[in-house]
This record gives sequence, C-alpha cells and structure tokens, in this order.
Amino acid sequence: MKNRTHSTSAAPLGFASRLRLSTSAVHTRAEKTTFIRGFLRGTACPASYVHLLAALHPVYAAMEDETRRLAATDPVIARFHFPELYRTLPLERDLMLLAGPDWARTVPVMAASQAYVKRIRHVAATEPVRLIGHIYTRYLGDLSGGQVLARIAERSLGLAHGAGLDFYDFDAVPDIASMKTLFRARLDELGTLPDAATASVIDEANTAFRHNIAIFEQLEGNGLLSFIRNLPLPWVRASRLPAPAWGGVPAAAN
Ligand code: HEM
Repeated sequence: MKNRTHSTSAAPLGFASRLRLSTSAVHTRAEKTTFIRGFLRGTACPASYVHLLAALHPVYAAMEDETRRLAATDPVIARFHFPELYRTLPLERDLMLLAGPDWARTVPVMAASQAYVKRIRHVAATEPVRLIGHIYTRYLGDLSGGQVLARIAERSLGLAHGAGLDFYDFDAVPDIASMKTLFRARLDELGTLPDAATASVIDEANTAFRHNIAIFEQLEGNGLLSFIRNLPLPWVRASRLPAPAWGGVPAAAN
C-alpha cells in the first residue's frame, strides 16, 4: 500500500498534504475495521453489502443537496461542487437492482447513517466550510480505492459484470487521476483561508471518517448477528436473539 504519511520535500506542505497527514491515523482505523477487512478478503455477504449501500445513500443525498444549495452563494463551497462525482443516483440504481424496487421501504436505515446525515445537515447550517471535510473524505476516498473495491465486490458477491456496481463507476469523469489532481489543487487553495477555517476542515474530515467507522461497526454487529442466526446449532434459535444492533427504522424516501 502507498505510504500516506511521508513527505520528502523540505517545502512547506500544501493543504491537501496536510489534510492527508492529519487524517492518516483515522484512515488506518477505518481500514482495520472488521467489516472492511472482511470486505477486502472477499468475505462480505450480499445482505451486508446492500446495507452498506443503503447506509451511504442518505449520506450522499444530504451531502449533495447541501453542497448544491451552498455552492450557489458560497464561493469556497462552489470550488468543491462537482456534480460529476454525485453518487446518490448510482446508489439508487444499485439498490434497485440488488434489493428490488421496494428497497427504500424494505432495507432499514442504520442509526449510524442517521447520525452521519444529521452531522452533515448541522455543519452545513452552522459552519459550511466544514462540509469540505465530508466532501473530501467520501469522494477522494471513492476516487482512490473505488476500482479495487468494485472488483472485490464483483467477485465476492457473485455479481454479473458491472451489475449493481454503479456506485464505483464515475462515468462522468473522463480521467480519475486528473480528477484527483484537480481535487487536491482545490484543497491547496484552502491554504489561503484563516487558520481557524482550515483547522475546522481537518477536524471535520476526522469526524467524517469516524462516522464511516461507526457505519462499518454497525454493519459488523449485524454481520455477526446473521452469522449466529445461521449457525446450524440446535440451541441457536432466531427468536431468542435480540433485535438487530443497528437500531434500524424503515428507510424514509430521501
Ligand atoms: C478498504 C480499505 C481502504 C484501503 C485499502 C484504502 C487505501 C487507500 C490508499 C492506498 C489511498 C492513497 C491513494 C492515492 O494516493 O492515490 C487512499 C486514499 C484515501 N482514502 Fe482510503 N482506503 C480504504 C478505506 C477508506 C475509507 C473507508 C475511507 C473513508 C470513508 C477512505 C478515504 C480515503 C481518502 C479521503 C483518501 C485520500 C487521501 C488523500 O490523498 O488525501 N479510505 N486510501
């Protein structure tokens, strides 16, 4: 894996590099969650994958809604408004295919996802520059690891080529590497903002990572529960097990 922490240059770090450095510890924590490790090993089950997509859907819907709204009047946010990266519709297409047209009613929304959405709405209303921490954490992450994750998902979930994998397919982006370079250049522009603002972006990116970790941990809890439920042991009875750990409520239309 690439080293995300070292800089050999003596020049002062640009903001993009500072942000990467300041999130490297929490990034490592996210990579080490049981859910992500299982995903990378190819042992994720289709149900938990659907739950992951359903958890991310309201998050992207909120992020894209707030970015679009704020970009109209806020020149800093406008620099991070990339409609070509929007993931809400690809997520809907994947969910439709993998969970059926009724997915919004049948797949529960996890409490961790609701808390993540609440945070996005809160920062957008109170300190919009923090939204950049969320935009960074999800989109630059998706652009960085998406292709590898798509191949793993395709293999381990037994999906027909590309079916249900629109989330990883940035078909409106002609060149992923150039998109990442542009994104990082926009991050570097933030270096001219007051220190308090750049500190907020860094702080919020760490918060965004923690929200993602909370989703993975809830999915893990759920994975363990379904594993136990499916054990072929006479003393394991589904009726005796507690309700799912995710505090699920039926998904509302977003
Ligand atoms: C599946 C486990 C993961 C692996 C193996 C992984 C690996 C990587 C690697 C190698 C890079 C550097 C790519 C490059 O320099 O071009 C990267 C970047 C990034 N990843 Fe991950 N990642 C994982 C999970 C995540 C998660 C769960 C998130 C957040 C939700 C995330 C967010 C990011 C971000 C924001 C970047 C950009 C860093 C920067 O350049 O500032 N990653 N990841």
